[in-house]
Amino acid sequence: MIGIRPERDEAETVHAIHAAAFETDQEARLVDRLRAAGDIACSLIALDGERAIGNVILSPMGAEIDGRRIRAVALGPIGVLPDRQDEGVGEALVQAAIAWARGEGFAAMFLLGAPEYYGRFGFSAEAARRFASPYAGEHWQALALDETFSPSGSGRADYAPAFAAFEGA
Ligand SMILES: CC(C)(COP(=O)(O)OP(=O)(O)OC[C@H]1O[C@@H](n2cnc3c(N)ncnc32)[C@H](O)[C@@H]1OP(=O)(O)O)[C@@H](O)C(=O)NCCC(=O)NCCS
Repeated sequence: MIGIRPERDEAETVHAIHAAAFETDQEARLVDRLRAAGDIACSLIALDGERAIGNVILSPMGAEIDGRRIRAVALGPIGVLPDRQDEGVGEALVQAAIAWARGEGFAAMFLLGAPEYYGRFGFSAEAARRFASPYAGEHWQALALDETFSPSGSGRADYAPAFAAFEGA
């Protein structure tokens, strides 16, 4: 039975999950930098019994549309241990992250990822296109969480500074 709960100061566990899930430790080190900067808004751990098998990180963004600030949060990195992928753990983590962000009153969530995976949760490149970003392209996606994320206009959505040193984004 898979459970999801907030991280409880488990930096080493979270680092190990991302180091195992991704090809390099780049994402794990990104999480460490976000943590050091105090830029982890939410860290959720997927558990199978006592075993931590997945993690998703949400970090605050500086976002505005037509000069008006909106509350936005970035999803990622998200990682599931290789021997536990394709079982729905990632989906449970994304759904829990969206529920957390809605509950906290965020207007939008952004991410960089495969459209064929994140489309199932409602993310789209179309929604993100109006937001200038160095990561603009088909992998740059957004999900509206409330009505303040207006369907028109243009703006920007900036990741936390720790992402600046990240080449995989
Ligand atoms: C991506 C990841 C978090 C998904 O979690 P998961 O628990 O394995 O995935 P789920 O069981 O929720 O979903 C499985 C589905 O996702 C798809 N999927 C998994 N990784 C994918 C990827 N990188 N691109 C596109 N689709 C992907 C699978 O093909 C499967 O599709 P289906 O439902 O149509 O059969 C996990 O596979 C992982 O940690 N991968 C390595 C790290 C990584 O790439 N992180 C994401 C970077 S954006």
